[in-house]
Amino acid sequence: MKRVIVTGGAGFIGSNFILYELKKDPEIFIVNVDKLTYAGNLENLKEVENDPRYVFRQMDICDAEGISALFDEFDIDTVINFAAESHVDRSISDPMVFIRTNVLGTATLLNIAKDKWSDGNGGFREGVKYLQVSTDEVYGSLGPEGFFREDTPLDPHSPYSASKASADLIVKSYYDTFRMPVNITRCSNNYGPYQFPEKLIPLMINNCLNHRELPVYGDGLQIRDWLYVEDHCKAIDLVVREGEVGQVYNIGGHNERTNLFIVNSVISYIHDNQDETVDESLIRHVTDRKGHDRRYGIDPQKIHDALGWEPETMFENGIRKTIRWYLDNGEWIDGVVSGAYQKYYDEMYRGR
Ligand code: NAD
Ligand code: TYD
Repeated sequence: MKRVIVTGGAGFIGSNFILYELKKDPEIFIVNVDKLTYAGNLENLKEVENDPRYVFRQMDICDAEGISALFDEFDIDTVINFAAESHVDRSISDPMVFIRTNVLGTATLLNIAKDKWSDGNGGFREGVKYLQVSTDEVYGSLGPEGFFREDTPLDPHSPYSASKASADLIVKSYYDTFRMPVNITRCSNNYGPYQFPEKLIPLMINNCLNHRELPVYGDGLQIRDWLYVEDHCKAIDLVVREGEVGQVYNIGGHNERTNLFIVNSVISYIHDNQDETVDESLIRHVTDRKGHDRRYGIDPQKIHDALGWEPETMFENGIRKTIRWYLDNGEWIDGVVSGAYQKYYDEMYRGR
């Protein structure tokens, strides 16, 4: 991987990945292609904006002409597709933008890469790869037992997860049909710096800091399998460089927690370190999410055995680092919660 298009590089995981790669690999050249939706924020990349190994292009991944021109301009050999509409609640209120970006956008990127990387004999140039960043949500919901494995049947429930599963199937078809060098990674819930405060952990941190109620959907006993974002970035780096083509890799840290446990962890850190008036009385159980998946849990054995990956950040340490980051970066939060965020928050939570 030398000349890489990273799509969605101004979002949460994409920007963490770009910062990680530029630190790790002196040879890499990254073109960050991002539409800058509400979730994209170039502030995340301030420290690398003048790095000669990095350029930013504001572009929609559905823009076939624009993407095609980037392949020619930068002689791209790798695509890592983070770009997506990523929030389940938004997919329930407005599914179509999820179908467009997540399905059509993925197909557009993939098809251009296939043409540009052709060796002229029905095969592909040496050293090229397309990596689709996907989610464990494509597998649906687990009961109290068992884990998602790579061969677990896809059974998505939300428009978000259905759009991601659709994208995965299109990527799979380009391997099955054309033997295009692709990988798909399916990761569990990420947390860490630069996550937009519509997602559980940063939303709860921001609400604690503003003495707002903490809206827990339903009984709060739903389970997610949390992974520190840097561990996810390391896994993606390994898969793109060493993953066997055509393979799917699940990424997760054996770190299942109930939502109430997560909310209480946020409360107790802020209570002990920032504001002792923050306590459990802020929790409010609100109407549950429609079609809410009860439990996600990843079996990460394959990526461990094949590529030697394992998570390095224990949850107790990762959650402390994350909350500390939000406490130390008040300007970043103020920047993202102004304007449109307030409208979103009112529409999603008022009277719920
Ligand atoms: P995010 O919402 O924080 O960022 C998405 C980025 O994509 C934003 O910068 C946005 O501007 C950009 N984008 C959206 N539509 C675009 C378009 N049409 N063209 C170009 N850019 C566009 O998302 P995230 O949490 O960083 O997730 C990144 C990827 O990882 C997504 O594909 C998501 O499905 C997947 N994923 C996320 C998690 C998680 O816990 N956050 C877990 C597993 C998988
Ligand atoms: P979220 O961060 O939206 O991730 P995902 O739905 O992709 O797993 O939500 C994580 C869990 O937290 C999920 O079970 C829904 C729940 N949740 C709440 O209880 N309250 C909230 O305000 C939010 C945003 C999420």
